[in-house]
Amino acid sequence: MTAPKSLLSALRNAVGDAHVLTDPDVIAGHTRDWTGRFSGTTPAVVRPATVDEVVAVVRACGDAGASIVPQGGNTGLVGGSVPLHGEIVLDLRRLDALGPVDAGAGQVTAEAGVTIERLHDYAHAAGWNYGVDLSARGSATVGGTVATNAGGIHVLRYGSTRRQLLGVEAVFADGGVMRRLDGLEKDNTGYDLSGLLCGSEGTLAVITAARLKLVPRPTHVVVALLAFDAAETALDAVGELRRELDSLRAVELFEQRGLDLVCERLGLARPFPAGHATFVLVEAAARTDPTDELASAIDALVGVADVAVAADDRGARDLWRYREGHTEAINLLGSPHKLDVTLPADQLAAFLVEVRERVVSVEPNAAVWLFGHAADGNVHVNVTGVAPDDDRITDAVLQLVARRHGSISAEHGIGTAKRAWLHLVRSAEEIAAYRAIKNALDPNSVLNPNVLLPPETRA
Ligand code: FAD
Ligand code: MLT
Ligand code: ZN
Repeated sequence: MTAPKSLLSALRNAVGDAHVLTDPDVIAGHTRDWTGRFSGTTPAVVRPATVDEVVAVVRACGDAGASIVPQGGNTGLVGGSVPLHGEIVLDLRRLDALGPVDAGAGQVTAEAGVTIERLHDYAHAAGWNYGVDLSARGSATVGGTVATNAGGIHVLRYGSTRRQLLGVEAVFADGGVMRRLDGLEKDNTGYDLSGLLCGSEGTLAVITAARLKLVPRPTHVVVALLAFDAAETALDAVGELRRELDSLRAVELFEQRGLDLVCERLGLARPFPAGHATFVLVEAAARTDPTDELASAIDALVGVADVAVAADDRGARDLWRYREGHTEAINLLGSPHKLDVTLPADQLAAFLVEVRERVVSVEPNAAVWLFGHAADGNVHVNVTGVAPDDDRITDAVLQLVARRHGSISAEHGIGTAKRAWLHLVRSAEEIAAYRAIKNALDPNSVLNPNVLLPPETRA
């Protein structure tokens, strides 16, 4: 992939020669997504370190008629963070400063490239917590999680990224900068542009920093893994736990076949001597020890076939590994199709049965892996044994979801992977409004023009 010499030299002027990378070996990790399903080519990966440098890069690309894919940790799972159409990759990870924690307000300003893990460590050191957590924490960035409105494991307690967001600093496609980092809890002035940029997947502006709320830090965390012999009973238990357990912070779900795969591929010991149908991982977190409260909530559940409990960090991490290891273990089978969806609570049990049957009827060689954030109705439908470009699986699964009034994107975004199915869950009027916003903020299609919106069909 080549670019006009004038663009490369404008980019070098903007960020310095050392931060315009073109060597294919060096940039390989920027052009292929985490799953390996999506890969492309780019003339250059550009690594600005300041907002002014981001402005200069955006202007240089705009002047040259080149498009940009903003990139954080490149852990996105919908093909939105890699240059599938020869875009310039704008790597934001050198913007990695953290402002002081405002101890009174419980807020912090983090630049886009700060990883979620670093943000957690930083908040902890100041006696706080950050409300969004996910197993990609070591690589996923503040900018990427704001751009995708990431969810993760603690949504039931604190909400998705949008709920943590008090404002952003961002660079628009024309190089203009908005800076809304004052941290006002109440500010009813006009359109909420920060809220709009959250979840915009790099299509409306480049996020350079975010003002984030922090949450109180629980001092006691207890984790339990519950085994059930039927998915319905497991889902009933999820509802019961939500009703009964004040300290509930996470409720996750996976199946025996996923557990077998994780244990086999990641070399983990099995948690229980016998096999079961479905597993629910529960995390309780509070300022006082929630062990007794959790134990009595579990005692009151119907159909618990086995239980493992961990009250220390190491044991809790080991139990979480059974759930969080799914992404890695499945990827070891070959690039999966990853369909991250939400169902209304009363549709979930039927969907879990129906979706496997449907996928296998479309492709008998497919293997279906179901796991996710049970309390949010968020299932990750992962399918292996299918060619990366076989759209029949996406179509079959997303049609089922839409029929049951679910969402085709719970937390990962639309990206490239699902843009052709947006119409299933957004009306023509809504898509026209999305397009009007895109055209108003980025009339020359500089910023991630190939994600989120479906390709325009011309009459
Ligand atoms: P990238 O992957 O680099 O980019 C994602 C999107 O955001 C792209 O469209 C990109 O163009 C845009 N973007 C990135 N940075 C910026 C910026 N500064 N300004 C504007 N646009 C930008 N997601 C969840 O929601 N919940 C989970 O539990 C979860 N678990 C995961 C576990 C694993 C093991 C993996 C690999 C992924 C997981 N994800 C999860 C998906 C992924 O981590 C999130 O989507 C995350 O928000 C992406 O952050 P990132 O920094 O890697 O962004
Ligand atoms: C998860 O919850 O583990 C993630 O969203 C990643 C995935 O879907 O694999
Ligand atoms: Zn998830």
